[in-house]
Amino acid sequence: IIRDEFLDILKKVEEGKELLYEDIVILLKTNRKAEMDALFKTADEMRKKIVGDVVDIRGAIEFSNYCKKDCKYCGVRRSLKDLQRYRMSEDEIMEVVHSLHDIGIKTVILQSGEDMWWTKEKIGNLITRIKKETGMKITLSLGERPREEYEYFKKLGANNYLLKIETTNEEIFKFIHPDDDINHRKECSKWLKELGYLNGSGCIVGLPGQREEDIARDILYFKDMGINMIGIGPFIPAKGTPFEKYPTGSVDLTLKAVAVTRIVCKRVFIPATTALASVDPNLQADALMAGANTIMLINTPPKYRYNYQIYSDKNMVDLKSAYDAVTRAKRKFPSYLKIDMEVYNDATNAEK
Ligand code: 5AD
Repeated sequence: IIRDEFLDILKKVEEGKELLYEDIVILLKTNRKAEMDALFKTADEMRKKIVGDVVDIRGAIEFSNYCKKDCKYCGVRRSLKDLQRYRMSEDEIMEVVHSLHDIGIKTVILQSGEDMWWTKEKIGNLITRIKKETGMKITLSLGERPREEYEYFKKLGANNYLLKIETTNEEIFKFIHPDDDINHRKECSKWLKELGYLNGSGCIVGLPGQREEDIARDILYFKDMGINMIGIGPFIPAKGTPFEKYPTGSVDLTLKAVAVTRIVCKRVFIPATTALASVDPNLQADALMAGANTIMLINTPPKYRYNYQIYSDKNMVDLKSAYDAVTRAKRKFPSYLKIDMEVYNDATNAEK
C-alpha cells in the first residue's frame, strides 16, 4: 500500500516541482516495499529521461595506500601499522592506463590515500604523460590538497576530482575525521568547482549516529553546491579500525538515497558503488535501476589490491561483473568500448 502523502511527493516530481527537505525525509524513511519500488521507478524514469540508457564505465587505479590521515572508518588509515603500504611506480600506473585505453575506456580515475610523497610535480608529470600518451580524461581522487595544486593539475589537463564530504552532519564529520575540518573540506570542494573541474562528492550511509534527516541534508548540499558526480555507499566495517565492530549500513537506505539524489540533483553522474557491490554483487544492478548510471572498474594490479581495502572484503568490480550488472539492469555499455562482451563472456567461461 502506498500512502497518499507518499504518492503526493512522487506526483510533485512528475510535475517537475522541487522537493522540500520534509519531502525528502519522508522518501528516505519509508520501509514499505510498494513505496520503495515506486520511488525507484520514479528515479529510474528520471535517469532515463535525463542521462539515457548508457552506463558510463570508468577505470580506477588505486596507486598508493599511504595516508597521513586517520579517518576512523577507513581501512588504509595512518594508524594501521600492520598494513603493507605500497606505491605504484609511474611506469606501473602507465601500463594500466594503456590497458584501459586499449579497450576504449575514456576516463581513468587516479585514487590514493593522502600521500604527500606524491608531490605536485610527480602528480603533474603523471597527468602530462597520460594526456600525451592516451588523451584520456583524468579523474583525480587524492584528498585535500592546496588550491594551488588543484589549479596546477587542472592546467595540465585533469578533468574531474572526487572529494567526498562523507557526511554534512558536523558532529559526525568531526567524530569520524580526527584530522579534518568540515568547513575546509567544503572549501576544497568549492575551489574545485571554481577551477572548472567536474566536481565529485558523496556520502557514506550508516555512519554512527547518522539519521535519514542527515542524508536528506547531504543530498540538498550536493544540489546547492552544484556537485556533478555523487557516490553513495553503505558503511562497511574495516578490520583493525575503531569502527570494525560497527554494523554495515543499510542497503535499502543507500538505494533510497541514490534514487532521491537522482530525483533532486537530476543531471549528475551517480555510480553504482563498489561498496554496494561488496555487500552483494547483485546490488550494482539494483542501483542502476534506482537512478545510478556509472560503474567504476577497479583496475589496481592484483598484487596491490589486497592492501587497498578501505573496507574489509572489498569486492572486485571488473568488466565481467559490470557487464552482468548492466545486463541485469537492461542497460547498455557505451558504444566506444572496444569489447565484444559476448566474445568476452565465452572466453571467460571457457577458462572455467
Ligand atoms: N565503508 C564504506 N565506505 C568507505 N569509504 C571509505 N571507507 C569506507 C567504509 N569503511 C568510502 C568513502 C571514500 C571512498 C573512497 O570510500 O566514501 O570517499
